[in-house]
Amino acid sequence: MSMPPVFLLLCFFSVLNLSAAQTPIPAKYDGFVYGGGSLWKGLVIIEAFLDPMCPDSRDSWPSLKQALEFYYPRVSLAVHPFALPYHSNAFASCRALHIAHNLNASSTYPLLELFFKHQESYYNAPTYYRSRAFITDQFSKIAAEAVGKGSYSAIKSGFNDSRTDMATRISFKYGCSRGVMGTPYFFVNGIPLPDYGSALDFKKWKSIINPLLTVKK
Ligand SMILES: *[C@@H]1O[C@H](CO)[C@@H](O)[C@H](O)[C@H]1NC(C)=O
Ligand SMILES: *[C@@H]1O[C@H](CO)[C@@H](O)[C@H](O)[C@H]1NC(C)=O
Repeated sequence: MSMPPVFLLLCFFSVLNLSAAQTPIPAKYDGFVYGGGSLWKGLVIIEAFLDPMCPDSRDSWPSLKQALEFYYPRVSLAVHPFALPYHSNAFASCRALHIAHNLNASSTYPLLELFFKHQESYYNAPTYYRSRAFITDQFSKIAAEAVGKGSYSAIKSGFNDSRTDMATRISFKYGCSRGVMGTPYFFVNGIPLPDYGSALDFKKWKSIINPLLTVKK
C-alpha cells in the first residue's frame, strides 16, 4: 500500500528532528577546577560529580580535599555539580554554584562547603512547605557569604538569568552522558571508580593515586 505523500513528508521531518537534537555545547568544559586554571595541569585528574544537597557527597568531601591538598598540584580536580532529582533543592544549589562562580571564581568551593554545612536544613522534609522563592532567597544569602560583601542582589538576579539555568542543565546532562547515576561519583583519569555513592577515605585515595604517580616519574 502506498503512503499518502503528506504522511511520508511528516515522517521524514520527525526523523530529521530527532537526529538534529543536540545538547548545547558549552563554551568551556564543564566543571569547577580546584584552585582555578586548567584541569589538565595535573598529572592525575579527578572528576567528582557532587550534589550539594547530598549527605554522601558531603561526607566524601573532607577526605577528597585532604588528598587534593596532599598531592596538589600533581593532582587536579574538577567538581561537576550534579543535581539528583530526588533532592528537592539540588538544582537550585547547583545553580547557585554556577552563579557564584561567575561572580567570583574563588568562591565556588567555599560555597560548596557552606552548602554541605547547612544542607540538613534544606532536605526534602524540612522544606516541604517552603516555596521556591524562599529557597532561592536562602541560597542567595548563603552564597553571598562566599561570594563577598554586597553580592546578595547580584546572586538573586543570577537566579533569574536563563544562562545560569542552562549552565546547570549542561552540568547535569554532562553527568548523564558519562553514565553518572548518583553522587558522589568519581572518575580518575577518565575512568569511573566503583562503588559510587559512598565516600573514599584518605588512605583509599592514596592507594589509587600513588601507583599512577609512580608510573609517571
Ligand atoms: C571572593 O571569594 C573569596 C572566597 O570566599 C573571598 O575570600 C574573596 O574576598 C572574594 N572576593 C571579593 C572581591 O569579595
Ligand atoms: C525573578 O523572577 C521572579 C519571577 O518572574 C520575580 O518575581 C522576581 O522579582 C525576580 N527577581 C529578581 C531579583 O529579578
